Amino acid sequence: MKFISIDAAMEQASGKVAVRGWVYRERGSNAIKFIVVRDSTNIIQCVLEKSKLGKQWADIDKLQIEASVELQGEIKADKRAPSGFEINVDTIRIIGLSDAFPITKDLNEELLGDRRHLWLRSRKMQAILKIRDTVLQALREHWHAKGFYEYHSPSLLGMQAEGGSSLFKVDYFGKPLYLTQTWQLHAEAGIFSLEKIFTIQPSFRAEKSKTSRHLTEYWHAEMEAAWEDFDYLQDDAEAAIKLIVKRVLERNTKELEILERDVSKLEPALKKSFPRISYDDALKLLKDKKKIAIPWGKDLRTIEEDKLSELFDTPVFVRCYPKEVKAFYMKEAPAKASKGGPVVLGFDLIGPEGYGELIGGSQREESIDKLKKNLEADGEDVSKYEFYFDTRRYGSVPHGGYGMGVERVISWICHLDTIKDAIAFPRTMTRWNP
Ligand code: 4AD
Ligand code: MG
Repeated sequence: MKFISIDAAMEQASGKVAVRGWVYRERGSNAIKFIVVRDSTNIIQCVLEKSKLGKQWADIDKLQIEASVELQGEIKADKRAPSGFEINVDTIRIIGLSDAFPITKDLNEELLGDRRHLWLRSRKMQAILKIRDTVLQALREHWHAKGFYEYHSPSLLGMQAEGGSSLFKVDYFGKPLYLTQTWQLHAEAGIFSLEKIFTIQPSFRAEKSKTSRHLTEYWHAEMEAAWEDFDYLQDDAEAAIKLIVKRVLERNTKELEILERDVSKLEPALKKSFPRISYDDALKLLKDKKKIAIPWGKDLRTIEEDKLSELFDTPVFVRCYPKEVKAFYMKEAPAKASKGGPVVLGFDLIGPEGYGELIGGSQREESIDKLKKNLEADGEDVSKYEFYFDTRRYGSVPHGGYGMGVERVISWICHLDTIKDAIAFPRTMTRWNP
Protein backbone atom coordinates (compact mmCIF):
# COMPACT_ATOMS: atom_id res chain seq x y z
CA MET A 1 0.00 0.00 0.00
CA LYS A 2 1.08 3.55 -0.68
CA PHE A 3 1.87 5.63 2.39
CA ILE A 4 -0.14 8.81 2.78
CA SER A 5 0.13 11.63 5.29
CA ILE A 6 -1.93 11.56 8.46
CA ASP A 7 -3.88 14.57 7.20
CA ALA A 8 -4.66 12.76 3.95
CA ALA A 9 -5.70 9.65 5.88
CA MET A 10 -8.11 11.70 8.00
CA GLU A 11 -9.48 13.29 4.87
CA GLN A 12 -10.11 9.81 3.47
CA ALA A 13 -11.93 9.19 6.81
CA SER A 14 -12.71 5.49 6.28
CA GLY A 15 -11.29 2.31 4.78
CA LYS A 16 -7.72 1.06 4.69
CA VAL A 17 -4.82 3.48 5.06
CA ALA A 18 -1.04 3.24 5.41
CA VAL A 19 0.77 5.94 7.39
CA ARG A 20 4.21 6.36 8.89
CA GLY A 21 5.75 8.57 11.52
CA TRP A 22 6.98 8.74 15.08
CA VAL A 23 5.40 7.68 18.36
CA TYR A 24 4.07 10.80 20.02
CA ARG A 25 2.41 9.18 23.01
CA GLU A 26 1.81 5.62 24.13
CA ARG A 27 -0.25 3.91 26.78
CA GLY A 28 -2.04 0.63 27.23
CA SER A 29 -2.03 -2.80 28.75
CA ASN A 30 -0.69 -6.20 27.87
CA ALA A 31 -3.71 -6.81 25.63
CA ILE A 32 -4.19 -3.46 23.85
CA LYS A 33 -2.03 -0.42 23.19
CA PHE A 34 -2.99 3.08 22.14
CA ILE A 35 -0.19 4.75 20.26
CA VAL A 36 -0.50 8.29 19.01
CA VAL A 37 1.66 8.67 15.89
CA ARG A 38 2.79 11.99 14.46
CA ASP A 39 4.11 12.99 11.08
CA SER A 40 4.77 16.42 9.62
CA THR A 41 1.05 16.99 9.07
CA ASN A 42 -0.79 15.83 12.20
CA ILE A 43 -1.21 13.22 14.92
CA ILE A 44 -3.46 10.17 14.97
CA GLN A 45 -4.36 7.54 17.52
CA CYS A 46 -3.55 3.95 16.53
CA VAL A 47 -4.97 0.92 18.30
CA LEU A 48 -2.79 -2.20 18.54
CA GLU A 49 -4.37 -5.41 19.76
CA LYS A 50 -2.42 -8.41 20.96
CA SER A 51 -5.05 -10.73 19.51
CA LYS A 52 -4.11 -9.45 16.02
CA LEU A 53 -0.42 -8.64 16.43
CA GLY A 54 0.59 -11.29 18.95
CA LYS A 55 3.72 -12.42 17.08
CA GLN A 56 5.24 -8.93 17.30
CA TRP A 57 4.00 -8.12 20.78
CA ALA A 58 7.41 -8.28 22.45
CA ASP A 59 8.72 -5.63 20.02
CA ILE A 60 5.57 -3.52 20.25
CA ASP A 61 6.01 -3.55 24.00
CA LYS A 62 9.42 -1.87 23.52
CA LEU A 63 8.00 1.11 21.63
CA GLN A 64 8.84 4.36 23.36
CA ILE A 65 8.18 7.96 22.44
CA GLU A 66 9.87 8.92 19.12
CA ALA A 67 10.29 5.37 17.81
CA SER A 68 9.60 5.38 14.05
CA VAL A 69 6.90 3.10 12.66
CA GLU A 70 4.93 2.22 9.54
CA LEU A 71 1.31 1.20 10.05
CA GLN A 72 -1.59 -0.12 8.02
CA GLY A 73 -5.16 -0.45 9.14
CA GLU A 74 -8.73 0.71 9.07
CA ILE A 75 -9.37 4.38 9.81
CA LYS A 76 -12.56 5.67 11.40
CA ALA A 77 -13.79 8.77 13.13
CA ASP A 78 -13.66 8.63 16.92
CA LYS A 79 -14.57 11.67 18.99
CA ARG A 80 -12.46 10.49 21.95
CA ALA A 81 -9.23 10.28 19.92
CA PRO A 82 -6.91 13.32 20.14
CA SER A 83 -7.39 14.37 16.50
CA GLY A 84 -10.86 12.86 16.06
CA PHE A 85 -9.75 9.74 14.16
CA GLU A 86 -8.37 6.34 14.99
CA ILE A 87 -6.62 3.61 13.03
CA ASN A 88 -7.24 0.01 13.99
CA VAL A 89 -3.87 -1.46 13.06
CA ASP A 90 -3.57 -4.64 10.94
CA THR A 91 0.19 -4.53 10.39
CA ILE A 92 3.02 -2.58 11.95
CA ARG A 93 6.66 -2.32 10.95
CA ILE A 94 9.05 -0.90 13.50
CA ILE A 95 11.66 1.12 11.63
CA GLY A 96 13.75 2.60 14.42
CA LEU A 97 13.46 2.06 18.17
CA SER A 98 13.95 5.06 20.43
CA ASP A 99 15.91 5.46 23.64
CA ALA A 100 14.09 7.20 26.47
CA PHE A 101 13.46 10.62 24.88
CA PRO A 102 15.36 13.28 26.86
CA ILE A 103 12.66 15.94 26.58
CA THR A 104 10.24 16.14 29.45
CA LYS A 105 7.75 18.74 30.57
CA ASP A 106 9.89 20.19 33.36
CA LEU A 107 12.99 21.06 31.30
CA ASN A 108 14.22 24.61 31.80
CA GLU A 109 15.03 26.90 28.87
CA GLU A 110 18.75 26.11 29.02
CA LEU A 111 18.33 22.34 28.81
CA LEU A 112 15.69 22.70 26.12
CA GLY A 113 18.20 24.84 24.20
CA ASP A 114 20.84 22.11 24.52
CA ARG A 115 18.34 19.64 23.07
CA ARG A 116 17.08 21.95 20.37
CA HIS A 117 17.73 19.35 17.65
CA LEU A 118 15.17 17.12 19.36
CA TRP A 119 12.80 19.90 20.48
CA LEU A 120 12.24 20.76 16.80
CA ARG A 121 9.92 17.73 16.73
CA SER A 122 7.51 19.35 19.20
CA ARG A 123 4.12 20.44 17.94
CA LYS A 124 4.95 24.00 18.96
CA MET A 125 8.16 24.17 16.90
CA GLN A 126 6.50 22.32 14.04
CA ALA A 127 3.75 24.96 13.97
CA ILE A 128 6.21 27.87 14.11
CA LEU A 129 8.42 26.39 11.39
CA LYS A 130 5.40 25.97 9.12
CA ILE A 131 4.37 29.59 9.68
CA ARG A 132 7.96 30.62 8.97
CA ASP A 133 7.70 28.83 5.63
CA THR A 134 4.52 30.75 4.82
CA VAL A 135 6.15 34.07 5.77
CA LEU A 136 9.13 33.49 3.45
CA GLN A 137 6.89 32.29 0.64
CA ALA A 138 4.64 35.35 1.00
CA LEU A 139 7.64 37.69 0.84
CA ARG A 140 8.85 36.16 -2.41
CA GLU A 141 5.30 36.21 -3.78
CA HIS A 142 4.95 39.89 -2.84
CA TRP A 143 8.13 41.06 -4.54
CA HIS A 144 7.99 38.80 -7.56
CA ALA A 145 4.44 39.99 -8.29
CA LYS A 146 5.81 43.54 -8.45
CA GLY A 147 8.62 42.60 -10.83
CA PHE A 148 11.47 42.57 -8.32
CA TYR A 149 14.46 40.28 -8.88
CA GLU A 150 15.96 38.18 -6.11
CA TYR A 151 19.60 39.31 -5.80
CA HIS A 152 22.31 38.51 -3.27
CA SER A 153 25.08 40.40 -1.53
CA PRO A 154 28.25 38.86 -0.05
CA SER A 155 28.30 37.89 3.62
CA LEU A 156 31.99 38.72 4.08
CA LEU A 157 32.63 42.45 3.92
CA GLY A 158 35.42 44.94 4.39
CA MET A 159 33.24 47.67 5.87
CA GLN A 160 30.32 48.32 8.20
CA ALA A 161 26.94 49.84 7.42
CA GLU A 162 25.00 49.74 10.68
CA GLY A 163 27.55 50.84 13.25
CA GLY A 164 30.86 49.37 14.37
CA SER A 165 29.68 48.19 17.77
CA SER A 166 27.70 45.25 16.40
CA LEU A 167 30.31 43.98 13.92
CA PHE A 168 31.59 40.43 13.95
CA LYS A 169 35.21 40.29 12.93
CA VAL A 170 36.42 37.38 10.83
CA ASP A 171 40.04 36.38 10.36
CA TYR A 172 40.19 36.29 6.55
CA PHE A 173 43.59 34.84 5.66
CA GLY A 174 45.14 37.10 8.25
CA LYS A 175 43.12 40.19 7.27
CA PRO A 176 40.18 41.50 9.26
CA LEU A 177 36.82 41.22 7.52
CA TYR A 178 33.31 41.44 8.93
CA LEU A 179 30.14 39.39 8.71
CA THR A 180 27.48 41.39 6.92
CA GLN A 181 24.97 43.41 8.94
CA THR A 182 22.90 44.20 5.85
CA TRP A 183 23.00 43.60 2.13
CA GLN A 184 22.43 47.27 1.56
CA LEU A 185 25.64 48.81 0.22
CA HIS A 186 26.05 46.06 -2.36
CA ALA A 187 22.34 46.16 -3.13
CA GLU A 188 22.62 49.85 -3.96
CA ALA A 189 25.15 48.84 -6.61
CA GLY A 190 22.72 46.18 -7.90
CA ILE A 191 19.79 48.50 -8.60
CA PHE A 192 21.77 50.17 -11.39
CA SER A 193 21.51 46.85 -13.16
CA LEU A 194 18.16 45.38 -12.06
CA GLU A 195 16.35 48.48 -10.69
CA LYS A 196 14.14 46.60 -8.21
CA ILE A 197 15.65 43.85 -6.10
CA PHE A 198 15.14 41.91 -2.88
CA THR A 199 16.94 39.33 -0.81
CA ILE A 200 16.21 36.97 2.04
CA GLN A 201 19.53 36.03 3.63
CA PRO A 202 21.20 36.01 7.05
CA SER A 203 22.58 39.17 8.63
CA PHE A 204 24.87 39.19 11.63
CA ARG A 205 24.96 41.50 14.63
CA ALA A 206 27.27 41.15 17.61
CA GLU A 207 24.46 42.02 20.01
CA LYS A 208 25.79 41.95 23.51
CA SER A 209 22.38 42.41 25.08
CA LYS A 210 20.25 39.49 26.20
CA THR A 211 16.77 40.42 25.03
CA SER A 212 13.72 38.63 23.72
CA ARG A 213 14.14 40.26 20.30
CA HIS A 214 17.82 40.08 19.36
CA LEU A 215 19.66 37.28 17.62
CA THR A 216 23.29 37.43 16.52
CA GLU A 217 22.38 35.70 13.24
CA TYR A 218 18.98 36.55 11.83
CA TRP A 219 17.24 36.30 8.48
CA HIS A 220 16.94 39.65 6.84
CA ALA A 221 14.39 40.31 4.09
CA GLU A 222 15.55 43.44 2.30
CA MET A 223 14.47 45.38 -0.76
CA GLU A 224 16.08 48.19 -2.72
CA ALA A 225 14.43 50.15 -5.52
CA ALA A 226 15.70 52.71 -8.04
CA TRP A 227 13.66 55.83 -8.92
CA GLU A 228 11.32 55.47 -5.95
CA ASP A 229 10.61 57.87 -3.09
CA PHE A 230 10.16 57.67 0.65
CA ASP A 231 6.40 56.98 0.55
CA TYR A 232 6.82 54.16 -1.97
CA LEU A 233 9.03 52.33 0.53
CA GLN A 234 6.40 52.50 3.24
CA ASP A 235 3.63 51.47 0.82
CA ASP A 236 5.72 48.46 -0.13
CA ALA A 237 6.53 47.54 3.48
CA GLU A 238 2.88 47.78 4.44
CA ALA A 239 1.78 45.66 1.48
CA ALA A 240 4.44 43.04 2.30
CA ILE A 241 3.28 42.76 5.92
CA LYS A 242 -0.37 42.60 4.83
CA LEU A 243 0.32 39.76 2.41
CA ILE A 244 2.26 37.86 5.08
CA VAL A 245 -0.63 38.17 7.54
CA LYS A 246 -3.16 37.26 4.86
CA ARG A 247 -1.29 34.13 3.79
CA VAL A 248 -0.67 32.99 7.37
CA LEU A 249 -4.36 33.42 8.23
CA GLU A 250 -5.30 31.45 5.09
CA ARG A 251 -2.79 28.63 5.32
CA ASN A 252 -1.93 28.26 8.98
CA THR A 253 -5.24 28.12 10.86
CA LYS A 254 -4.23 24.82 12.44
CA GLU A 255 -0.78 26.08 13.48
CA LEU A 256 -2.17 29.29 14.98
CA GLU A 257 -4.57 27.12 16.96
CA ILE A 258 -1.74 24.92 18.24
CA LEU A 259 0.07 28.10 19.33
CA GLU A 260 -3.16 29.40 20.90
CA ARG A 261 -2.72 32.63 18.99
CA ASP A 262 -5.61 35.09 19.34
CA VAL A 263 -6.01 35.80 15.63
CA SER A 264 -8.32 38.76 16.24
CA LYS A 265 -5.12 40.59 17.24
CA LEU A 266 -3.72 40.06 13.71
CA GLU A 267 -6.81 41.09 11.79
CA PRO A 268 -6.44 44.89 12.16
CA ALA A 269 -3.08 44.67 10.35
CA LEU A 270 -4.92 43.17 7.42
CA LYS A 271 -7.90 45.50 7.37
CA LYS A 272 -6.61 48.90 8.49
CA SER A 273 -3.92 51.08 7.01
CA PHE A 274 -0.84 51.57 9.17
CA PRO A 275 -0.54 55.04 10.71
CA ARG A 276 2.49 57.06 9.59
CA ILE A 277 3.64 59.43 12.29
CA SER A 278 6.77 61.51 12.63
CA TYR A 279 9.39 61.09 15.35
CA ASP A 280 8.15 64.44 16.68
CA ASP A 281 4.57 63.08 16.81
CA ALA A 282 5.87 60.00 18.62
CA LEU A 283 7.53 62.14 21.30
CA LYS A 284 4.30 64.08 21.72
CA LEU A 285 2.16 60.94 21.97
CA LEU A 286 4.53 59.42 24.52
CA LYS A 287 4.42 62.60 26.57
CA ASP A 288 0.65 63.18 26.38
CA LYS A 289 -0.61 59.61 26.58
CA LYS A 290 2.13 57.76 28.44
CA LYS A 291 3.73 60.47 30.56
CA ILE A 292 7.16 59.67 29.14
CA ALA A 293 9.32 62.69 28.35
CA ILE A 294 12.10 62.11 25.83
CA PRO A 295 14.48 64.95 24.97
CA TRP A 296 14.47 65.66 21.22
CA GLY A 297 17.40 63.93 19.58
CA LYS A 298 17.35 60.72 21.62
CA ASP A 299 16.56 57.46 19.86
CA LEU A 300 13.47 55.55 20.97
CA ARG A 301 14.42 52.72 23.27
CA THR A 302 12.70 49.34 23.49
CA ILE A 303 10.55 50.43 26.41
CA GLU A 304 9.40 53.54 24.56
CA GLU A 305 8.62 51.60 21.38
CA ASP A 306 6.57 49.22 23.50
CA LYS A 307 4.62 52.05 25.13
CA LEU A 308 4.01 53.59 21.72
CA SER A 309 2.79 50.28 20.29
CA GLU A 310 0.15 50.14 23.05
CA LEU A 311 -1.54 53.10 21.37
CA PHE A 312 -2.13 51.21 18.10
CA ASP A 313 -3.60 47.86 17.06
CA THR A 314 -1.64 47.73 13.79
CA PRO A 315 2.03 48.22 13.05
CA VAL A 316 2.89 51.94 13.03
CA PHE A 317 5.46 53.81 10.94
CA VAL A 318 7.63 56.30 12.81
CA ARG A 319 9.41 58.56 10.35
CA CYS A 320 11.96 61.34 10.15
CA TYR A 321 14.23 60.55 13.06
CA PRO A 322 17.01 62.88 14.16
CA LYS A 323 19.98 62.51 11.83
CA GLU A 324 22.25 61.88 14.81
CA VAL A 325 20.70 58.54 15.75
CA LYS A 326 20.40 57.04 12.28
CA ALA A 327 22.79 55.42 9.78
CA PHE A 328 25.19 57.43 7.59
CA TYR A 329 23.44 56.55 4.33
CA MET A 330 20.01 58.02 5.15
CA LYS A 331 18.99 61.04 3.12
CA GLU A 332 18.64 64.30 4.97
CA ALA A 333 15.08 65.64 4.95
CA PRO A 334 14.53 69.18 3.65
CA ALA A 335 15.57 71.77 6.25
CA LYS A 336 12.82 72.67 8.74
CA ALA A 337 11.19 69.24 8.42
CA SER A 338 11.41 69.31 12.22
CA LYS A 339 11.80 72.19 14.66
CA GLY A 340 14.07 70.00 16.78
CA GLY A 341 16.96 69.79 14.31
CA PRO A 342 18.08 67.93 11.17
CA VAL A 343 16.12 64.77 10.46
CA VAL A 344 16.43 62.00 7.88
CA LEU A 345 14.01 60.32 5.49
CA GLY A 346 14.20 57.11 7.46
CA PHE A 347 11.45 55.08 9.06
CA ASP A 348 10.96 52.28 11.54
CA LEU A 349 7.88 50.08 11.46
CA ILE A 350 6.98 49.28 15.05
CA GLY A 351 5.00 46.09 15.55
CA PRO A 352 1.90 45.82 17.73
CA GLU A 353 1.73 44.06 21.11
CA GLY A 354 5.23 45.13 22.06
CA TYR A 355 7.12 43.29 19.30
CA GLY A 356 9.35 46.28 18.58
CA GLU A 357 10.96 47.32 15.32
CA LEU A 358 9.91 44.94 12.55
CA ILE A 359 11.36 46.97 9.68
CA GLY A 360 13.88 49.78 9.24
CA GLY A 361 14.28 51.67 5.97
CA SER A 362 15.14 54.91 4.26
CA GLN A 363 15.58 57.04 1.21
CA ARG A 364 19.34 57.00 0.45
CA GLU A 365 21.63 60.01 0.53
CA GLU A 366 22.95 60.79 -2.95
CA SER A 367 25.55 63.44 -2.13
CA ILE A 368 29.04 61.96 -1.86
CA ASP A 369 30.12 64.91 0.29
CA LYS A 370 27.37 64.30 2.80
CA LEU A 371 28.05 60.57 2.88
CA LYS A 372 31.73 61.26 3.54
CA LYS A 373 30.93 63.73 6.31
CA ASN A 374 28.58 61.28 7.99
CA LEU A 375 31.13 58.47 7.80
CA GLU A 376 33.87 60.69 9.17
CA ALA A 377 31.62 61.71 12.03
CA ASP A 378 31.28 57.98 12.81
CA GLY A 379 35.07 57.61 12.77
CA GLU A 380 35.08 55.49 9.61
CA ASP A 381 37.88 55.22 7.04
CA VAL A 382 36.11 56.66 3.99
CA SER A 383 38.59 55.11 1.55
CA LYS A 384 36.90 51.74 2.18
CA TYR A 385 33.69 53.10 0.69
CA GLU A 386 35.03 54.15 -2.72
CA PHE A 387 33.01 51.47 -4.51
CA TYR A 388 29.90 52.82 -2.80
CA PHE A 389 30.62 56.40 -3.85
CA ASP A 390 30.89 55.14 -7.43
CA THR A 391 27.15 54.37 -7.32
CA ARG A 392 26.69 58.14 -6.90
CA ARG A 393 29.28 59.02 -9.58
CA TYR A 394 27.84 57.17 -12.54
CA GLY A 395 24.23 58.11 -13.15
CA SER A 396 22.99 58.42 -9.58
CA VAL A 397 19.20 58.16 -9.18
CA PRO A 398 16.84 58.64 -6.23
CA HIS A 399 16.47 55.31 -4.50
CA GLY A 400 15.80 53.62 -1.20
CA GLY A 401 15.01 50.39 0.55
CA TYR A 402 14.30 48.67 3.81
CA GLY A 403 15.13 45.59 5.84
CA MET A 404 12.71 43.36 7.72
CA GLY A 405 13.74 41.15 10.60
CA VAL A 406 12.07 37.90 9.55
CA GLU A 407 12.19 36.44 13.07
CA ARG A 408 10.74 39.65 14.52
CA VAL A 409 7.74 39.31 12.20
CA ILE A 410 7.35 35.60 13.01
CA SER A 411 7.56 36.37 16.76
CA TRP A 412 4.74 38.85 16.43
CA ILE A 413 2.56 36.68 14.21
CA CYS A 414 2.99 33.66 16.49
CA HIS A 415 2.96 35.77 19.67
CA LEU A 416 6.21 34.19 20.91
CA ASP A 417 7.82 34.96 24.25
CA THR A 418 11.27 34.95 22.67
CA ILE A 419 12.64 35.49 19.17
CA LYS A 420 14.75 32.35 19.68
CA ASP A 421 11.70 30.23 18.90
CA ALA A 422 11.24 31.90 15.52
CA ILE A 423 14.24 30.03 14.07
CA ALA A 424 15.27 26.37 14.20
CA PHE A 425 18.74 26.90 15.67
CA PRO A 426 18.99 30.33 17.34
CA ARG A 427 22.29 32.11 17.77
CA THR A 428 22.70 34.59 20.60
CA MET A 429 25.61 35.76 22.72
CA THR A 430 25.12 32.79 25.03
CA ARG A 431 23.71 30.21 22.63
CA TRP A 432 25.57 28.77 19.62
CA ASN A 433 25.04 25.04 20.18
CA PRO A 434 23.78 22.75 18.76
O1 4AD B 1 17.18 48.69 11.24
P1 4AD B 1 18.28 47.86 10.64
O2 4AD B 1 19.59 47.88 11.30
O3 4AD B 1 18.40 48.36 9.13
C1 4AD B 1 19.28 47.91 8.21
O4 4AD B 1 20.05 47.00 8.36
C2 4AD B 1 19.09 48.54 6.87
N1 4AD B 1 20.36 48.49 6.18
C3 4AD B 1 18.00 47.82 6.12
C4 4AD B 1 17.83 48.36 4.73
O5 4AD B 1 17.45 49.50 4.57
N2 4AD B 1 18.09 47.54 3.74
O6 4AD B 1 17.79 46.37 10.53
C5 4AD B 1 16.61 46.06 9.82
C6 4AD B 1 15.73 45.12 10.63
C7 4AD B 1 15.24 45.72 11.95
O7 4AD B 1 14.11 46.54 11.75
C8 4AD B 1 14.92 44.48 12.75
O8 4AD B 1 13.63 43.98 12.43
C9 4AD B 1 15.93 43.47 12.25
O9 4AD B 1 16.45 43.98 11.03
N3 4AD B 1 17.03 43.29 13.19
C10 4AD B 1 17.20 42.21 13.97
N4 4AD B 1 16.47 41.08 14.09
C11 4AD B 1 16.91 40.16 14.97
N5 4AD B 1 18.02 40.28 15.72
C12 4AD B 1 18.79 41.40 15.62
N6 4AD B 1 19.90 41.51 16.34
C13 4AD B 1 18.38 42.42 14.71
N7 4AD B 1 18.89 43.62 14.37
C14 4AD B 1 18.05 44.13 13.44
MG1 MG C 1 16.78 49.99 12.76
